[in-house]
Amino acid sequence: MKEQDIRILAIESSCDETAAAVVQNGRTVLSSVIASQIATHTLYGGVVPEIASRKHTEKINQVVSEALKEAGMQAEEVDGVAVTYGPGLVGPLLIGVSFAKAVAWALDKPLIGVNHIEGHVAANYIEHKDLEPPFVCLIVSGGHTHLVVVEDYGQFRVLGRTRDDAAGEAFDKVARSIGLGYPGGPKIDAEAKRGNPDAICFPRGKVQDSPYDFSFSGLKSAVLNYQNHAKMTGEDINPSDLAASFQKAVVDVLVEHSIAAVRNLGMKQLAAAGGVASNSALRTALSQRCAAEGIQFYRPSPILCTDNAAMIGAAAYYAYRGGAASGLDLNAVPGLKLGER
Ligand code: KG4
Ligand code: ZN
Repeated sequence: MKEQDIRILAIESSCDETAAAVVQNGRTVLSSVIASQIATHTLYGGVVPEIASRKHTEKINQVVSEALKEAGMQAEEVDGVAVTYGPGLVGPLLIGVSFAKAVAWALDKPLIGVNHIEGHVAANYIEHKDLEPPFVCLIVSGGHTHLVVVEDYGQFRVLGRTRDDAAGEAFDKVARSIGLGYPGGPKIDAEAKRGNPDAICFPRGKVQDSPYDFSFSGLKSAVLNYQNHAKMTGEDINPSDLAASFQKAVVDVLVEHSIAAVRNLGMKQLAAAGGVASNSALRTALSQRCAAEGIQFYRPSPILCTDNAAMIGAAAYYAYRGGAASGLDLNAVPGLKLGER
């Protein structure tokens, strides 16, 4: 460790993962601990906010201690404490924010509130040491679908967003309708591997006059209509073909919009981020199209695509460097927008 190295303890609790990490200089993960609640929420078919809050309360102390231990550090040695303060579920966010405030106050270290969506983008900095802004980023998670230009660290220009469901939400809803359970994204991904993506022609959602916006609710309805029709006429549904065809309809639109943005803006780099960025069909399609177009493509490995605290530590480093510390009056902001502070 060099004298000027900055090591940030980061905390993430915006949804159903209690996570803590220590990240050095925004790019090197010294530790990353994730306690997932998926097994609990699976029983209810989705995240139950009150249960999520309780689980975060139970786990946060242990997860933070483990992250420090894994990094071989005492709490006093960290240079700052970062925490996700939005967007997300208010109860779960408040547990992380209150905990981080207490730690920052007790250690007398700066507190850095981080936007969760910006964290997803920053996951790319961890694995791709050469990646620097500007680049186009496709952010696809359970709650968000954005196509943005990352103009500088922490500076975003939104090109397009979903008008209705987020991409991950569409995966989760369609998975439920096929009976694959929660969380739907990884289940559809696996099921689709056995199916024919051209078996059923589903609509590619376009938004008139907004070339970079997305819409997935029409696709979701088309899948439901297909199922209802089959039920009424007594036809068998092949769930693998259904999953593969649905997935292709989502992936096609995400890829087309992303490539068009990079081309039209004359940029050279495209990154993907968020839980849906771990989808195998999306990763393959984006890397193939980028290779054909001479675009450099970046995406985090699946463990850094889904919620984790290392990405929060990476985003926090650049905020810290820019002098953007939060006050101890930091509050959870469930509807926090991208680029908002
Ligand atoms: O980023 P994330 O962990 O949490 C949010 O910030 O929302 O994203 C979770 C979303 C869920 O909707 C999940 O179904 C989806 O990402 N997801 C996937 C895959 N893995 C996770 N969607 C498609 N294919 C996957 N392999
Ligand atoms: Zn997320």
